[in-house]
Amino acid sequence: MNVIDAVNARISVRQFTTEPVSDEALRGLVNDAAQAPSGGNVQPWRIYAVNGDSMASLREFLATQAPIDEPEYDIYPKSLIEPYRTNRFECGEMMYATLGITRDDKDGRRQQFAHNNNFFDAPAAIFCYIDRQMGAPQWSDLGMYLQTLMLLAVERGLGTCAQEYWSVRHKAVTAFVGAPENEMLFCGVSIGHPQADAPINSLRTNRMPLEQFATFL
Ligand SMILES: Cc1cc2nc3c(=O)[nH]c(=O)nc-3n(C[C@H](O)[C@H](O)[C@H](O)COP(=O)(O)O)c2cc1C
Repeated sequence: MNVIDAVNARISVRQFTTEPVSDEALRGLVNDAAQAPSGGNVQPWRIYAVNGDSMASLREFLATQAPIDEPEYDIYPKSLIEPYRTNRFECGEMMYATLGITRDDKDGRRQQFAHNNNFFDAPAAIFCYIDRQMGAPQWSDLGMYLQTLMLLAVERGLGTCAQEYWSVRHKAVTAFVGAPENEMLFCGVSIGHPQADAPINSLRTNRMPLEQFATFL
């Protein structure tokens, strides 16, 4: 597969089939994504992977824990300025429209949001942590790791959904994976086989035109 094909094919998958992901495939993804660059080659990513039995245990454990924690970082700036605000709004509206959930259907929206908590039925997931000492440059390195992993997943016939959602359940996740106090949870990534005919997986989000985000001098 060419890189551009993987870039174009990668989407956030929000419905997975029950088909398992092998431990070898998961280990391969986590390992190969570490070929991502990082400033000074610091490699600030810390990854905890769950699959099969450990995923089943995690699901059981999560059900016994507080449903929501105060996130340890701001997922978005407190008042998002334009054009970012509109981008975010459009993405949410398109997602609910794909599912036929109207603006007034608060329950429908809540239910779709709640699917985050079941990893959209994915059989595997990783959690991305970073040392609390690290700053914006290293968080950006973690992003490169994430995208590399997500593109490799496409090449290997797998789908992914990055989930900052887990920042609102960081205490439960951290208790389960055993991450030390010096590490902070950034996000989870659900991993599995996309359910091809699930309406939610037909969502294709917009991108701003080139002229809106790039200046060529
Ligand atoms: C770091 C990160 C965290 C995200 N967190 C969530 C999440 O918690 N739940 C969710 O449904 N989508 C989440 N997304 C998916 C974004 O909404 C998605 O990437 C964006 O709308 C663009 O769509 P695409 O991934 O299909 O191209 C996240 C994406 C990233 C990169």
